Amino acid sequence: MNKKLRDNCFIRDMERSFDLSVPEMNRIMKDFGREMKKGLAGKNGSLKMLPAYVGRATGNEKGKFIALDLGGTNFRVLELELKGGGNFGAPKVMKFTIDKKHTAGRGEDLFDFIARCIKAFINEEHLNKEAGMKLGFTFSFPMDQKALAKGLLIRWTKGFSASGVKGKDVVGLLRKSLVKEGLGSLLVSALANDTVGTLVACSYREPICDVGIIIGTGTNACYLEKISEIKKLKGFSGLKGNMIINTEWGNFNRLKLTKYDAALDRASRNRGEQILEKMVSGMYLGEIVRLIIEDMAYLRNIDKGIIAPFRERGSFKTEYMSEIEGDTSPGLSIVKRVLKRAGADVSSAEDRNLLKKICAMVSRRGARLSASALAAVICKMDRALSRKHTVAMDGSLYEKHPAFAKNMKRALREIFGSKASRINIKLTKDGSGTGAAIIAAIAGS
Ligand code: GLC
Repeated sequence: MNKKLRDNCFIRDMERSFDLSVPEMNRIMKDFGREMKKGLAGKNGSLKMLPAYVGRATGNEKGKFIALDLGGTNFRVLELELKGGGNFGAPKVMKFTIDKKHTAGRGEDLFDFIARCIKAFINEEHLNKEAGMKLGFTFSFPMDQKALAKGLLIRWTKGFSASGVKGKDVVGLLRKSLVKEGLGSLLVSALANDTVGTLVACSYREPICDVGIIIGTGTNACYLEKISEIKKLKGFSGLKGNMIINTEWGNFNRLKLTKYDAALDRASRNRGEQILEKMVSGMYLGEIVRLIIEDMAYLRNIDKGIIAPFRERGSFKTEYMSEIEGDTSPGLSIVKRVLKRAGADVSSAEDRNLLKKICAMVSRRGARLSASALAAVICKMDRALSRKHTVAMDGSLYEKHPAFAKNMKRALREIFGSKASRINIKLTKDGSGTGAAIIAAIAGS
């Protein structure tokens, strides 16, 4: 078989295995719905459905708060002033990089580092640490929340593995470290997942917001559930009406894996876990592309060209996909530049085309999977999609990728037809910071 024919066959096979038809999306929706119910009843399943002990914002929350945002390799400290009426002032922000020593070292060191960052921020901004300032903590990992300011880490995700944190109350660990730094007067009054922060932040201005999604390094969603539906919360009388549920949808696993997904999972630190996340989010999509081109290079029996710089695991970054898929220039000059930057000095137009197709296939599947999961969440609240829903969305992949949002919306139209227009996905930047402050305000009210 000549090379061109072989490439075409390869791509056709690949497209078939990465495609997600409408019946398949419907099947996923159904399974997802079932898993949601299991999770709400406290039964074993892939969706943890974690109560967040908070509902939507009223828009009237007021005051100055410190917000902490831990969920990836950056840690941020913010000071925010909520002015009421859905308004807030420009936040003061400081960003710190968390290196491997802390993500994969001792948990105590990680929290000590966080406390030192908070101290640096307070000093820099000349804040009065004796004032009993309230602090909202966005902690974007699965946690079993016992109250608004108490949550036990279920397990790390997104490559974190700091020891001695699993099963512990992260607010307790933070408090201990704050005391060590002489910051014992700060009051950690709220703890939230980033999706929850995003939903709450959006609802501060937009009362019909009822879903929060992150599609970035990791992926997850939360939504507003009737307390009567949260069967495992028996005996809880703290809130009437609705409560936000963090689905931890990244762990959904009733999905058909390609051999590349299986290989990625096998090589991961959290094998068998976070399967949807591994097919959707920024931490993993580039690696799926890399595994495909590695395979392709093997099949075509080439050892130079586009695979040369990408022999190492993790060397093909998801960000490249955004650049590659956004390239509409004749001859794909941007793709050429990306490859050159990575170390592939020579690339043929054929190879560049192929690479663009592969990236598009992988990201499109991620978008369609996200749409199927979102459709299931919406149907859980509103089976016939009879009212409008605002979905607060944040995350670099969704925001920066040239086709992810479009593909996700297209898939929603395929699932719901014209009713899909009732779903408004609203980019809510930095919801995890603002949301944490609003939740801290709610805690104090
Ligand atoms: C991972 C975490 C989840 C978080 C998401 C987005 O899936 O487990 O808690 O919301 O990443 O940051």
